[in-house]
Amino acid sequence: MKNINPTKTFFWKKLQHHYNRVRKVKIQDLFKEDKSRFLKFSKNFRDIIWIDYSKNKILEETMKNLFNLSKEMDVKSAINSMFNGEKINKTENRAVLHTAIRNRNKNKIILDGIKIKEEVRKIFKKIENFSEDVIAGNWRGYSGKRITDIVNIGIGGSDLGPRMVLKSLKSYRNHLKIHFVYSSDGIHIFETLKKISHETTLFLISSKTFSTHETISNSEIAKNWFISKSKNIKHMQLHFFAISMNYKKSIEFGIEKKNIFKIFDWIGGRYSLWSSVGLSIALSIGFKNFENLLDGAYAMDNHFLNTTESDNIPIILALISIWYNNFFRSETEVILPYSQRLSLLPTYLQQCLMESNGKSVDRLGNFIKYQTCPIIWGETGTNFQHSFCQLMHQGKKLIPCDFIGVIQNPGFSEKCHEETMSNFFSQTRALAFGNFSKKSTKNSNLYKVLFGNRPSNSILLKKIDPYTIGALISMYEHKTFVQGVIWNIYSFDQWGVELGKKLSFQILSDIRNNKEIDNYDDSTNNIINLYKKFKK
Ligand code: F6P
Repeated sequence: MKNINPTKTFFWKKLQHHYNRVRKVKIQDLFKEDKSRFLKFSKNFRDIIWIDYSKNKILEETMKNLFNLSKEMDVKSAINSMFNGEKINKTENRAVLHTAIRNRNKNKIILDGIKIKEEVRKIFKKIENFSEDVIAGNWRGYSGKRITDIVNIGIGGSDLGPRMVLKSLKSYRNHLKIHFVYSSDGIHIFETLKKISHETTLFLISSKTFSTHETISNSEIAKNWFISKSKNIKHMQLHFFAISMNYKKSIEFGIEKKNIFKIFDWIGGRYSLWSSVGLSIALSIGFKNFENLLDGAYAMDNHFLNTTESDNIPIILALISIWYNNFFRSETEVILPYSQRLSLLPTYLQQCLMESNGKSVDRLGNFIKYQTCPIIWGETGTNFQHSFCQLMHQGKKLIPCDFIGVIQNPGFSEKCHEETMSNFFSQTRALAFGNFSKKSTKNSNLYKVLFGNRPSNSILLKKIDPYTIGALISMYEHKTFVQGVIWNIYSFDQWGVELGKKLSFQILSDIRNNKEIDNYDDSTNNIINLYKKFKK
């Protein structure tokens, strides 16, 4: 991958001039001047996902410059480097191959002398056999009873992906009840343990490193609870599983080697739902549906890899976001799914985008002077309309947003669905066009005027099924990647999370002793001492 400061490129400078010329352009006028904006600025992905990006502050010239920026930044060869297994995660000396795990049939990648295809085939066979056994009732608990509940203990990438997918694919779920435990407050695990029977529950301890404090602490509680009930530590072998690359720690914890589902070191945590981390998905919706999820992601991978910039959906989305972030200096981006089933998508994308691209040192080790990842936030569209939509329509901030809606919603009330989607369409229309007219400002007061000219992307899914959800997630993963390439940062490490983790171990022992704390700054010392004083 080349290391180029994007702001020094010809097309960045050209975009800066272009921005100075067009920054006051109004979306309303763009539509008046060009009757075929939708045709020009929309894309269809295999008749399952449609992207309308015409309601943006963009001209054809804008997009042309942005595509040229992408070419100048060599995005295409960076994509090839990732797909070919080059060690592009340099600060961790790792390849980045979540795409290889979705390409189970054809990949020929050899990494450190190991054939990826073979490795992937083995692990998928294991996931398939195990999930089918559990679903069919062949895998029994120690007392011979069928399994009824699965508890996934994990956090971040070892939780959010499967949790979001299973929320989205609720209608595909089988009889197994799935519980996700991620919070370390104690309440979460104890509340969950109250709902289950130790004889019919499987615990999946999902942690790539097997050293994440929240996960290990919750897992210890689950293990002790299980042993106290079953009265025999050996029974753990039918109930406890690790999803990890750390065999040593998993085994020390008490997990049998055969009960470990390997995560490869070349799968990043936030890109891991396609791997063994997706075991809860395979258990809940069946292996075939899990495969469909991967196939959808693989279809988007192929599109991303083989499509020219101007038709490439992840590249287009990444560039539009850069246009606002780096030229209009907008600071945030909102994700607004108009489906309760997609309600976890904003949270999931927060980790995907911000943990990947929240960086301020470039790939050459220089401090960066331009903006990188915007703040990602969001909510279901229905809630957005009754909370922060006021600010989006009349506030002072420019907030680009992705509206995500669904066309077909079988099995649910058509009436409710139409009402929801009418809101989707009306919000994007109101944001872009407002209600301003010369007459309206004369007759009414300004408080009621919406000036419009607020951008949005409309993303329509034909339906919510595993294949489409796979493609949608993969689309956002690749958007993230393109932005990282253009911002010239390393998107696949997360060193920023380490200091807090380290400090928390030290502070934990400070909290547990009886001494007054004076080894930190004035604020930290006093707030810890206050906590200790009133804890007694
Ligand atoms: O602290 C952040 C993080 O490292 C994420 O990147 C990761 O997804 C999460 O913690 C969980 O890590 P692990 O799977 O190793 O428990």
